[in-house]
Amino acid sequence: AAAGDWSTIEVSVADRVGTIRLNRPKALNALNEETMDEVVAVATALDADDEVGAILLVGSAKAFAAGADIKEMSSKGLAEMYSADWFRRWEDFARLRTPVIAGVSGYALGGGCELAMMADVLITGEGAKFGQPEINLGVIPGMGGSQRLTRSVGKAKAMDMILTGRHIGAAEAERIGLVSRVVADEELEDTAATVAAEIAAKSKPAAQMAKEVVAAAFETPLQHGLVHERRVFHSLFATADQKEGMSAFSEKRSPQWQRR
Ligand code: HXC
Repeated sequence: AAAGDWSTIEVSVADRVGTIRLNRPKALNALNEETMDEVVAVATALDADDEVGAILLVGSAKAFAAGADIKEMSSKGLAEMYSADWFRRWEDFARLRTPVIAGVSGYALGGGCELAMMADVLITGEGAKFGQPEINLGVIPGMGGSQRLTRSVGKAKAMDMILTGRHIGAAEAERIGLVSRVVADEELEDTAATVAAEIAAKSKPAAQMAKEVVAAAFETPLQHGLVHERRVFHSLFATADQKEGMSAFSEKRSPQWQRR
């Protein structure tokens, strides 16, 4: 898996830990289709490798990931989003059986927050910022945010974050139960790697089964919610406000909502 010729990620394997680093610095690691394909392909290969006991996912100091790639989606319509079942492949990442540790520094917004929430252990630097700002683009979360955020932090905080789009800091994220641990920004990478190595050193079947049973408590019947969320998300690509919200982002101006 490490040997591939990847263009949006970097991959390495050491200490039984397979590390995937999101690497699109000019777009703050925005998750485009290529990144999704690369992350899922590598993670799937690491998952099947007996020599790998944990998968570590990190970004850069400034951004874990600033969201799904807005520019890539901006001009798409409902039929195209629906027939591609846009974002469905991320579910393959969420369904990996090997424990996944995310080390989050900087922005984890939109799809970045949703990807971080797919991890089993979420370690964050104190300067990290989480948010679901899709409402400000005229859409809603589409990679599981409405379901996973609500299940992790409850309705009050999930509604607040998803309806206002506000960013929350690492301290609030830890207080509400969104993240596992907060450490100094300078220690984030080392701590995340150490935790990943600690988990990777356990019995792999025991660690996989531990993950499976905790996930079962969390996820039943998540699948319905996720498919429903994707369909509603896709349908927003039939609105004028989606076009306006995403165009305004690219043109660096405030959106003028038509509310239709
Ligand atoms: C595409 C993105 C991007 C994104 C940033 N960039 N986020 N490109 N998709 N999600 C690009 C910018 O356009 C810019 O490109 C470059 O990365 C640097 O970003 P800046 O905005 O100049 O950086 P800064 O001023 O430091 O602001 C950082 C930021 C801001 C606060 C994180 O970039 C931001 O608000 N990004 C969008 C966050 C967001 O809405 N995420 C949710 C996406 S939707 P140029 O070419 O100008 O240098 C989603 C869920 C799916 O994830 C639901 C559908 C939308």
